[in-house]
Amino acid sequence: MTPPPPSPRRANPLRDPQDRRLPRIAGPCGLVLFGVTGDLSRKKVMPAIYDLANRGLLPPGFSLVGFARRDWADQDFAQIVHDSVKEHARTEFREEVWKQLAEGFRFVPGDFDDDAAFDQLRRTIHELDEVRGTDGNHAFYLAIPPGFFGTVAKQLKEHGLTDTDGDSWRRVVIEKPFGHDLASARELNAELDGVFPPETIFRIDHYLGKETVQNILATRFANNMFEPLWNSNYVDHVQITMAEDVGIGGRAGYYDGIGAARDVIQNHLLQLMALVAMEEPTSFEPEALRLEKQKLLASVTLPRRLDLTTARGQYLAGWSGGEKVRGFLEEEGIRRTSTTETYAAVTLHVENRRWAGVPFYLRTGKRLGRRVTEVAVVFKRAPHQPFSETAVEELTHNVLVIRVQPDEGMTLRFGSKVPGTAMEIRDVNMDFAYGGSFTESSPEAYERLILDVLLGDPPLFPRHEEVELSWQILDPVLEHWERKGKPEPYASGTWGPASADAMLARDGRTWRRP
Ligand code: BG6
Repeated sequence: MTPPPPSPRRANPLRDPQDRRLPRIAGPCGLVLFGVTGDLSRKKVMPAIYDLANRGLLPPGFSLVGFARRDWADQDFAQIVHDSVKEHARTEFREEVWKQLAEGFRFVPGDFDDDAAFDQLRRTIHELDEVRGTDGNHAFYLAIPPGFFGTVAKQLKEHGLTDTDGDSWRRVVIEKPFGHDLASARELNAELDGVFPPETIFRIDHYLGKETVQNILATRFANNMFEPLWNSNYVDHVQITMAEDVGIGGRAGYYDGIGAARDVIQNHLLQLMALVAMEEPTSFEPEALRLEKQKLLASVTLPRRLDLTTARGQYLAGWSGGEKVRGFLEEEGIRRTSTTETYAAVTLHVENRRWAGVPFYLRTGKRLGRRVTEVAVVFKRAPHQPFSETAVEELTHNVLVIRVQPDEGMTLRFGSKVPGTAMEIRDVNMDFAYGGSFTESSPEAYERLILDVLLGDPPLFPRHEEVELSWQILDPVLEHWERKGKPEPYASGTWGPASADAMLARDGRTWRRP
């Protein structure tokens, strides 16, 4: 018998230019950062750039241009980046790496509607192409409020900054919120699509850059023991939790009027749900992966009674980490009459054969008991137990918990016999912890995502169809809450409002207390 031809996907990794095990290093390029004084730039983007440089993943001539309404020289900007790196970088500070990186720093002062500043930006980029060899390849990172995305995009176009020649590229990076409902998301997408070709727009959802989130795909599709159970025959329900112990901090301006559902469920939690529930993609090419996520999101529906199947709350004063903390309405910059929710929970269904009848419960909140993000797949109980009732009295459901953070790993909970002469079965946990299995430490989500932008590698970035589908799911919930008025109060340091517990109790279930 002649052996079957080798599968095209099993190409020799030594020869395959796509071999994902080799470190991927960005080619000649630069990044222009709008919004350099904001939290996102200081805490995430700048440190990630340094960490990438420190890991040898940026080209030697990499350049970073800051753009802001500040009367700064290049050195002042370098000082800002320096302080942010010292405070927030993941990897150790090395003088030689810093020096080489800082040689590529430039600053352009100006407003978003200042034509002269955008001309200056064009000249600066051109100069960098000459002296640093960035080759005309530049990404524009808009770490600014979304209300300015349209203006900046238009300015970039009008001042010739989006023009490319030969093989050079221009890309734009934007951060959520991508609109505040379906209609505004569509408007925003249309504005950007008018300036940048769709494949050059990178929408960051930083959860997709997290190692543990990417590992959902590896767990499901690289193994044979989970996928056969991953359906309504065996799964009772799925709980997706993103709990934070912090309050809104200094982000009142952003948060008031936005709230927990728009801030987190519309993006991070629905993306997590898509990865957990989607079908196997034909490959891990961007198109294939996004297509499956999109198909899943298009099959998500809400139950009819939103009053019984959703919950929202607002934190009161209380205790957090042993400290007395104030309530949301007492936070600086928050309207005393604000009805913005700081806790949100929704029940979702997936209308397909795999998930028929399996609820997905998503919840998120600030000032909860502790910081934890996890996906818990809760299995149905065994259909028959050949034990006495008392033997299995303490046995609950089998659960697979994907621990996204902070204690990254997975836990499998199942029943086991308690040692002794009697037959008594109790839940036990089997744990996989990243720290115990790998010596490599996980890069920050922003390192991975910024590198992907510079490499032009789009699978981890949601495209505009996914963004719009997510709003389509959430809009009726937001409208329902708007009609209801005030969210239910909950004390800081607890696990949210009573209505969230009631929501699950009606289905005969309880939230996990991680
Ligand atoms: C952001 C939200 O997207 O994610 C914040 O806007 C939230 O409100 C943050 O605090 C949490 O991110 P992480 O990576 O710390 O879980």
